[in-house]
Amino acid sequence: MPRWWEKAVVYQIYPRSFADSDGDGSGDLQGIRQHLDHLSDLGVDALWMSPICPSPDVDWGYDVSDYTDIHTDFGTLDDFDELVRDAHARGLKVVLDLVPNHTSIEHPWFRQHPERYVWADEIPNNWLSVFGNGAWSRDEETGRYYLHSFFPEQPDLDWGNPDVGPAIGDAMRFWFERGADGFRVDALSRIGKDPALRDDPQATEPPVLPLPDEYARLKHVHSRNYANVEERLAVLRKAAGDKLLVGEVFLPTSELPRYLRHIDLAFAFELMFARWDPEEIARILGEGWRGLAWTLSNHDFSRVASRLGEENVRLAATLTLTLPGPAFVYQGDEIGLRDGPEADPPHDRRGRDAARHAMQWTPDPLGGFTTGTPWLPPIDPEERNVADQRRDPGSLLNLYRELIRLRRDMPLELELLGVDDGVLSYRRGDFTIALNFSGEERPNHFPGAVVLASHPTAPGKVQPYGAVVVAS
Ligand code: NOJ
Repeated sequence: MPRWWEKAVVYQIYPRSFADSDGDGSGDLQGIRQHLDHLSDLGVDALWMSPICPSPDVDWGYDVSDYTDIHTDFGTLDDFDELVRDAHARGLKVVLDLVPNHTSIEHPWFRQHPERYVWADEIPNNWLSVFGNGAWSRDEETGRYYLHSFFPEQPDLDWGNPDVGPAIGDAMRFWFERGADGFRVDALSRIGKDPALRDDPQATEPPVLPLPDEYARLKHVHSRNYANVEERLAVLRKAAGDKLLVGEVFLPTSELPRYLRHIDLAFAFELMFARWDPEEIARILGEGWRGLAWTLSNHDFSRVASRLGEENVRLAATLTLTLPGPAFVYQGDEIGLRDGPEADPPHDRRGRDAARHAMQWTPDPLGGFTTGTPWLPPIDPEERNVADQRRDPGSLLNLYRELIRLRRDMPLELELLGVDDGVLSYRRGDFTIALNFSGEERPNHFPGAVVLASHPTAPGKVQPYGAVVVAS
């Protein structure tokens, strides 16, 4: 039986920046509920919300202090129930964010169940935090050291402890019972760790995916992605039943099969960070697509329009939305939002404010996001916003809509045709997609009717940084 996510487009909502219903400057669940029209209008199948649970916000929700409640900034469990009800009434699935590797240091477990975390009397190894410095911090209360893969305020759970899996499973079931349709699972490779806590060896090659310099000096084979990850993934699978699990596994595609034996999907970070070059992208697509979830941006990295340049946003949309398998669209990419400035002082200690600015609904100075003082203001609402783009048939927003409609008719198969003079092409059943990565017009040799063009295009041509879909 086909599963709902096989061809799905999942829209990522960063709740704090999507829509503020009560004027406190922070987005919230009722704000999301009031904007479900936008999602229906785009034609997406599901929404995924970055964490909505209580959190002291050292890592903006990725430091959970209670797995079974709603952050007061976002509303209440009743608001959640209303949101799920309305989303489901529109045929939209609701995917939540699960953070099973670590909690907030303020989670009651840290004091009441210290055995659920990883401790040592002395710093036992050379493991590093990906957020900088060593991965061990001294707990002033006990004088012992605890492990943290991210900020010191995010202690890692010990998945070797028999209570951890069931406790996370209980949290998952809590949300399934309230109607959640699945989870995006955070930092998944990290739940597998060497129980002997052996040193990570020195790296001998540069990393495939971008990592901070100091962190990239080691090969992280003991501190994460350890063989015991599989038995822990099986625990998550059991708790999820047939609900969706999409993993944030920050590893090259070649490392993903052991994850995909247990979870449904994993983000294709290799595509996200690919050199924007058709040969390189063809190489990555040649490695396969089953089990991969395509995405070109999220709340952690520079946005598409800034990273690839505004000239490439239509090409990028056509690429992600014409590949087989699910695609994830980060809020704001559909109107071409760019990175904004860091707040002063920054909200995020890792410098990720840029991709988290408020959604731009209208041309007014606050972008229709809030009536109060936005926590991170909109960047250029008068230049790009949902209301104006909805009215403009040639807008980026309308290209997203057309692509999302068209991809439904494409069979789940991919035949790479190759790269010719900067044009990457592939076939999906009767559809041929030609993507021109060059800055010059190129001929479109493919016979058939052009059913979609990323830009107004003369017959038989593909625009610079443009794309066409041809049906035969
Ligand atoms: C990945 C999340 O997307 C990111 O925002 C967070 O900081 C880390 N995982 C740690 O939870």
